[in-house]
Amino acid sequence: MQPEGLNRKTVLSELKKIQQQDKRYDDGKILCSMCTRPHPIAEKAYRLFLSSNLGDPGLFPGSVQLEKDVICQLATLLHGTNCVGSIVSGGTEANFLALLAARNIAHVDRPEVVLPESTHFSFTKICNMLNLKPVYAGLDRSFKVDLTSIKECVTNNTVAIVGTAGTAELGVIDSIEELSKVALEHNVWLHVDAAFGGLVIPFLNDSKYLFDFSLETVKSITVDPHKMGMAAIPAGGIIFRNPQELDFIKTETPYLTDNFQYTFVGTRTGASAASAWAVFKVLGMTGFKKIVGNCMKTTQLLTDGLEDAGFSLVVEPTLNIVAFRSGNDTKLLSEKLWKKGWFVSYIPRYDCIRVVVMPHVTRKHAVVFLKDLVNSNKK
Ligand SMILES: Cc1ncc(COP(=O)(O)O)c(C=O)c1O
Repeated sequence: MQPEGLNRKTVLSELKKIQQQDKRYDDGKILCSMCTRPHPIAEKAYRLFLSSNLGDPGLFPGSVQLEKDVICQLATLLHGTNCVGSIVSGGTEANFLALLAARNIAHVDRPEVVLPESTHFSFTKICNMLNLKPVYAGLDRSFKVDLTSIKECVTNNTVAIVGTAGTAELGVIDSIEELSKVALEHNVWLHVDAAFGGLVIPFLNDSKYLFDFSLETVKSITVDPHKMGMAAIPAGGIIFRNPQELDFIKTETPYLTDNFQYTFVGTRTGASAASAWAVFKVLGMTGFKKIVGNCMKTTQLLTDGLEDAGFSLVVEPTLNIVAFRSGNDTKLLSEKLWKKGWFVSYIPRYDCIRVVVMPHVTRKHAVVFLKDLVNSNKK
């Protein structure tokens, strides 16, 4: 730290200069992110609650009310009643809390968790931290978890089965209904990681996917407002079906205004809950349907354009994620795209390029991208 403070104007202009190194969502060229520019009301709400700390809830009852309300709205959207939960740092913490509860409730000596191979890498961290043995189930031809494989993975030590509603890489929705039958049969916890899909699937036209609390064996769901919920980062969401389940993840807090915390993070901003709350109020179901509808239309435009240009899709998109291969070197193509300023992901496991069609990616961006893609693919 420098010895004397600088004036605010100088500091701000230095910050703005440094910020220019960051990519901007508004340019429509960030095609690899599951986050987007927060809704304008999210930014305002966040600023308003900047100093609130949900880690010390007795001081901030207004923020507590907002968090409860956001959890209640998310639970209702996912067909839950009397659910409980928290707005946390992200999908990683949300998944962590779910497996912490499952492990502590099951109370077995050598706990294992059954995970689809397509599961998010956050579970690798979580298994490490919770001393859980991950047992991986294979995928079927449509990249959903294979049910025979799931059944083979379950043992007496299984504390939870995880299904994903919207995988990070391909946007695939596992057959949660089938997983719920397996969970019921073996009386194990079923957690659904809907970090991304939880705020997409309910707004799809004719959504036919059963993935939420409407299935009785689903015990917990991750659903992140800071992804398709357009809230400010950090805003992950964990929802538990039963309030009693919180007892298994609580930590006593000796000197704060509440006796217990139910999250991994201690000091945590109430601004996240406020920003999600404000977006839900401003958009409502109609607003979300419109945003998701636009993302899906752009996804279709991109898919059609890719097929017309001779690229092959890894899988027909279910959500607003497109994964494709070139007949040439797909990895090299992704590098060329980065050089042209298109920030796509390359996924070695599927040897494909992945584009997440977030709200900041418009039809116009998709059309220009397709043109650049075709040119870059020429030898
Ligand atoms: C399905 C899924 N689960 C979990 C996560 C982890 O979320 P976060 O990065 O907010 O911790 C992601 C992130 O993209 C995800 O797509």
